[in-house]
Amino acid sequence: MTDDASGAGGGLPAGAAGITDIAVRHGRPGDVVLCGERLSKTYATRVVHEVDLELSTGRLHVLAGGNGSGKSTLLKMLAGVVTADAGGTVVLGGRRIAAESYSPRAARAGGLRFVHQDLGLVDQLSIAENFALEGGYPRRLPGWIDDHRLLERTSEDLRRAGLAFDPRLPVAALRPSDRTLVAIARALRDDPDAEASDAPLTLILDEPTASLPITEVDRLLDRLDTLRAAGHGIALVTHRLSEVMRIADDVTVLRDGRVVGTGPLGDFDEDRILALIAGHVPERLTRQERDTTSAPVVLGVRGLTAGALRGIDLDVHRGEIVGVAGLVGSGRTTLLRALFGDLPAAGEVSLDGAPIRIRTAGDAVAHRFALVPEDRTREAAYLDASVWENLSAASLAQYRTRLGVSARRERRAAPALISRFRVRTPSVEAPLAALSGGNQQKVVLARWLQTEPRVLLLDEPTQGVDAVARDDIHRTVRDTVDRGACAVVVSSDVEELEQLCDRVIVLHGGRLVQTITGTRVRRDILTAAIQQENRVA
Ligand SMILES: Nc1ncnc2c1ncn2[C@@H]1O[C@H](COP(=O)(O)OP(=O)(O)OP(=O)(O)O)[C@@H](O)[C@H]1O
Ligand SMILES: [Mg+2]
Repeated sequence: MTDDASGAGGGLPAGAAGITDIAVRHGRPGDVVLCGERLSKTYATRVVHEVDLELSTGRLHVLAGGNGSGKSTLLKMLAGVVTADAGGTVVLGGRRIAAESYSPRAARAGGLRFVHQDLGLVDQLSIAENFALEGGYPRRLPGWIDDHRLLERTSEDLRRAGLAFDPRLPVAALRPSDRTLVAIARALRDDPDAEASDAPLTLILDEPTASLPITEVDRLLDRLDTLRAAGHGIALVTHRLSEVMRIADDVTVLRDGRVVGTGPLGDFDEDRILALIAGHVPERLTRQERDTTSAPVVLGVRGLTAGALRGIDLDVHRGEIVGVAGLVGSGRTTLLRALFGDLPAAGEVSLDGAPIRIRTAGDAVAHRFALVPEDRTREAAYLDASVWENLSAASLAQYRTRLGVSARRERRAAPALISRFRVRTPSVEAPLAALSGGNQQKVVLARWLQTEPRVLLLDEPTQGVDAVARDDIHRTVRDTVDRGACAVVVSSDVEELEQLCDRVIVLHGGRLVQTITGTRVRRDILTAAIQQENRVA
């Protein structure tokens, strides 16, 4: 999925928030609706240990913790889709249920509504069909699906969630952020056949903001504020500490499957949460000013035109990390893919001052370009293959011969990479699918960084990565460019751009409209620049 895949239905027009009123639910704010007690889960090893968790109406509870700390597993137990070990209890809607016999049906009956980390959408099906997967198909006669009614009903459900999509659109045509919004709309809708109820629901979201661009993060958090004000309870997972501070009423931090801190937000600040996640006080990475503009140019770009991109000129110097900011559809991903030979492009590209031609990804790899794409689990990861195969550049069949690396050597290299990038995995042989989301991302990044690229192209490099690992990744990217490379980093996360980048270019409508340098590379200035361009348009 590219940044510019907006043709297929697009998102909400800027400014048209489209958010409808939400009926106030009855129930006193602060009433405990769900109480999980001593919840545990064992796979090959125990990954969640006797966790207690309370969720209340009208309050937002943030679940924080490092990659692989058990957050998603805990939420899946509450959803009843992962069966908990015997010994725990779930108290929900006044019923006390043994954790091992708790079910998705009990969760739904108790008013819990889930959006999991992978969103649970089937890409090939339309939005309406995805809604029907959970709500059932309306039928005119037994056996006859009422397509018209389904479309109508889905449009209405979307509209009430503030979305203006055609329900016939395949989910695959949506941008990542729109997929999240659709999944939330689906979770929140009423059961088609149920009687209307004004009881509060509890919306449980696993990393809903991880893949959202800044403007849509705000919109989503505002939306959650509204839901909370209407009396709904909310639990969510996020790796961004600034979001925790902005939106949480209550916080629980997990480390290695155990609760290491819980309480109202007032008990926490960013540093305390980070220390709880890490288990020690980690050294925080702060922005360092450096002037790389006098260093030789590694990557030169003149008049690059591809997809929505119009005539981009850009020089990236040795040791420099250039950030790319902009709204969805501004051409950020297109820029990276065009540079990598992944899209037809016109214009001139030079490496170390010599013109080069990159027509295919193979050409790019031969010139030691590396691209880590945005939607890693769909484009870059082999979920059924082992961790070592995923770490190995050789597993990319199309590059195997060019790189000429031996599988045996790659396998031997895996443990060192796993420790360098702090990947949490049961073993190098484990399938990638058994790793937590953030750890899958670290594996894909590690695969490319070990090739010692000259030009590193990163699209949302730390999406879904925990705050501690994120600093690790930033250090590694910095080390890579310090060894004579350069990097172009697309990120929707202005904090990431501030921390990592020497210079940030702002794209709008496929054109480079601003360059922000030096001490001006700050999150507030970047946010203003991105939004400013939006308003100007
Ligand atoms: N189906 C499974 N089989 C075996 N192990 C699993 C399975 N699902 C999760 N795990 C393991 O359980 C641990 C917790 O994973 P979980 O996905 O809950 O972490 P998380 O806190 O959500 O991490 P992230 O922030 O990366 O999403 C991880 O070590 C993971 O490898
Ligand atoms: Mg998770």
